[in-house]
Amino acid sequence: MGIVSQLRLATALVSAPSSSSSSALYIAVLLIMVATGAHDVGGLQVGYYANSCPVAETIVTATVGAYHQCGDPFYAAGVLRMHFHDCWVRGCDASVLLAGPTSEQTGLPNANSLRGFPVIQAAKTQLEKLCPGIVSCADILAFAARDSVVISGGPYWPVAAGRFDGRVSNAAETLILPSPLFNVSQLTANFAAKNFSQIEMIALSGAHTIGQARCLSFTNRLYPTQDPTLNPALASWLKTQCPATGGNPNNPVNLDFATPLTFDNQYYQNLVQFDGLLTSDEVLFTDPSTASITEIGATNSPVWQAAFVEAIIKMGNLANTSFGEIRLDPLCQVVNP
Ligand code: HEM
Ligand SMILES: *[C@@H]1O[C@H](CO)[C@@H](O)[C@H](O)[C@H]1NC(C)=O
Ligand SMILES: *[C@@H]1O[C@H](CO)[C@@H](O)[C@H](O)[C@H]1NC(C)=O
Repeated sequence: MGIVSQLRLATALVSAPSSSSSSALYIAVLLIMVATGAHDVGGLQVGYYANSCPVAETIVTATVGAYHQCGDPFYAAGVLRMHFHDCWVRGCDASVLLAGPTSEQTGLPNANSLRGFPVIQAAKTQLEKLCPGIVSCADILAFAARDSVVISGGPYWPVAAGRFDGRVSNAAETLILPSPLFNVSQLTANFAAKNFSQIEMIALSGAHTIGQARCLSFTNRLYPTQDPTLNPALASWLKTQCPATGGNPNNPVNLDFATPLTFDNQYYQNLVQFDGLLTSDEVLFTDPSTASITEIGATNSPVWQAAFVEAIIKMGNLANTSFGEIRLDPLCQVVNP
């Protein structure tokens, strides 16, 4: 973090109404850091690999591009979601990439659902040849999530790096991830527990402008009674994809039926027309407490994109920068010996 933004943060803390004594402590720490030229608050730095592995970001960007072009175009959505699921559980430490019979990958929100692993694995495999033991799996995932948004037509943001990889991955801990059945108060509480505001929660939900959800994530809106806040035309189509009986609960349906591969504000435009797919999507518009913010997303794409970028940088800062390891496995699946 540059000195200018450190000062901006200090100013924000001064004007924060709550806990003025801890604010004073933070400012003291910040001033010491400015004086010593030490790391930024989170310990993450933009350009972290500039000397140790200058090709790091280029390799990740090229790999994301190659898989988007020649592999599965939905990997971009998969990688973005994987970054979220990584950061929400134990911080952004690549715990989601660890394989094993009780790893996070087997948890309810992840099993039969996460995708994009080949992208991360291909990038890590190349980087272990070019700069062995230097670039963490967690940083690769953070770079790749940004590049996935960019390649889908969304905004760029500088990704600060220096995350360590974790050594622990527990399926049960994934239950901290928000459920698609959540209402606004539950969503707000889930994000507040990570110090994210309701506006940040709404802005990040815009990630559902790309990618897909399986029938089992939204058939609560079809059966036994059709959700009155679901556009009947969309409901009819969804019933063909997810029949009440005999269908495949893992059948994927586009989250944004109109532009499922484009990172645009169509997600919010869908919500205001009752074309949101998940309960947790549509409630952002049907709940009066969040409707007006959701409408801003629908009408003012640049404002949403700026809020999304700010919030996802904050999400990426849920990182461990003081302990852990640089995982050596070229597939990021196993901890170091
Ligand atoms: C606000 C609370 C959220 C809930 C309840 C939620 C829930 C879900 C669910 C249920 C799916 C479909 C999974 C499946 O059926 O396979 C999904 C997909 C997705 N989510 Fe979220 N999510 C939330 C927030 C986020 C955030 C913060 C991001 C990223 C910044 C994100 C990115 C994605 C993406 C890109 C997909 C599509 C993945 C693919 O196509 O492979 N979600 N989400
Ligand atoms: C949200 O769901 C929780 C748990 O089911 C419930 O207690 C609460 O009343 C609901 N809030 C709203 C605004 O519907
Ligand atoms: C909580 O979020 C605010 C606003 O983004 C940020 O300024 C503050 O540093 C965060 N607090 C903690 C403890 O992470």
